[in-house]
Amino acid sequence: MDTDAARASAPRHPLAPEWLVEPADANGLVASVWSAGTTRTDDGALEVAGIAAATLAEEFGTPLYVIDEADARRRAALMREAFSRELGRIGTGVTVYYAGKAFLSTEVARWMRDEGLNLDLSSGGELAVALAAGIEPERLGLHGNNKSLAEIDRAVEVGLGTIVLDSLVEIERVAAAAERHGRVQSVRLRVNSGVHAHTHEFLATAHEDQKFGLALADCPAAVARIRSHASLRFLGLHCHIGSQIFGSAGFAESASRLLDVHAELLEGGPVPELNLGGGFGIAYTSADDPTPIDEIAAAIADAVAEQCATRGVPVPHIAIEPGRSLIGPAGLTLYEVGTVKDVVVGAAGSTSVRRYVSVDGGMSDNARPALYGADYTARIANRSSSAEPALVRVAGKHCESGDIVVHDEFLPADVQPGDLLAVAATGAYCWSLSSNYNYLGRPPVVAVRDGRARVIVRGETEDDLLRRDAGIERKAILR
Ligand SMILES: Cc1ncc(COP(=O)(O)O)c(C=O)c1O
Repeated sequence: MDTDAARASAPRHPLAPEWLVEPADANGLVASVWSAGTTRTDDGALEVAGIAAATLAEEFGTPLYVIDEADARRRAALMREAFSRELGRIGTGVTVYYAGKAFLSTEVARWMRDEGLNLDLSSGGELAVALAAGIEPERLGLHGNNKSLAEIDRAVEVGLGTIVLDSLVEIERVAAAAERHGRVQSVRLRVNSGVHAHTHEFLATAHEDQKFGLALADCPAAVARIRSHASLRFLGLHCHIGSQIFGSAGFAESASRLLDVHAELLEGGPVPELNLGGGFGIAYTSADDPTPIDEIAAAIADAVAEQCATRGVPVPHIAIEPGRSLIGPAGLTLYEVGTVKDVVVGAAGSTSVRRYVSVDGGMSDNARPALYGADYTARIANRSSSAEPALVRVAGKHCESGDIVVHDEFLPADVQPGDLLAVAATGAYCWSLSSNYNYLGRPPVVAVRDGRARVIVRGETEDDLLRRDAGIERKAILR
């Protein structure tokens, strides 16, 4: 029996969750969880793209978001190549929109554009970032269930490539804006396929109880309305079935349902495209096993080809909108450990101990554990240790008992104040969901590549935080 197998069959720590196996080496980096550029040097310290974590922490402070640029770019290129290849096999092409809500800054917008991707946006603020990045407006798409009139007007005015219509009233709003600006605006119509997916399962119903989009049954009338406006050009249906999806069956089922209506819509005019949304899952822990993107692309292509053949319609151009799968694994967060505390858990007489390792950030820089119970992986970053693995809970510094960064992890038992901790796969939906709770400034974001690091979003200072407080005399804070 090898060491890992022996440990897997050894008595479990009473507080360890089922999925978490005690590792033989609590310094090890499981490749699926960390960016390709994250390694340990000969002296055991963690480095990203050739820069030691300790150097990054010294230069930029902690907490610190670190993005492995080459890894993000590689994932974007692989996504585009996989879908181009598989859809090419069935005689069509793909447009990949990077879903900026996962993480957006002008730098990252340009990386994605350089890798041949378009950009998907969900607000006027995200649109402002994309325009400031110099992304060509025709490469941008805007969606959202309640776009303001000002957001619609700006989008049409700058010549946005596509707007995803989410309700009947938006058809009229976008048509009016396009008329005002003398443009023909390309639009998609967001629909609920009735398929809702998350991780391993998908649920398929006739109607979804959610705020986004229209029911499939209402599409023909809505599309007739779109087509009645000379200022609108209908591109096709749009659907997004969920997030952190590990398999391909939900996407295939959704595509099949959409193509039913797509075929019907072709009787009234052209429907050149079909947008299947994003949601491809990533590994946050060693227990996560998402289907490789090549296989998902192949399964989607097969489903689309089969459905189009059955219905006797041409295969449309496909669009997808991945966010998390491109930027999530490329990111990690560095924290400094401040306190380590053993807590006896359970009834009187219990000997079950949980070790709380508290770090200098928390739910303000990563809301996902508190929001969704999300799990993460952590490692000591400034050194390796030969100490036995100990079950720990990594906690933040906020005034909330739910302020947990990593619920369950095995770290070397000698983890101590002053150690640096790296939390993996924090590139998506961490910075973008961050807050100033307890008046913590949002940490900077640093991109690392080829042994060099640069700030791509600067961190907030105390002055930044105080600047918006209208009750403070400016003189008092600008020393
Ligand atoms: C419409 C739409 N497209 C794309 C995405 C991106 O999803 P993910 O980051 O899971 O790929 C989302 C996420 O919520 C979404 O709502």
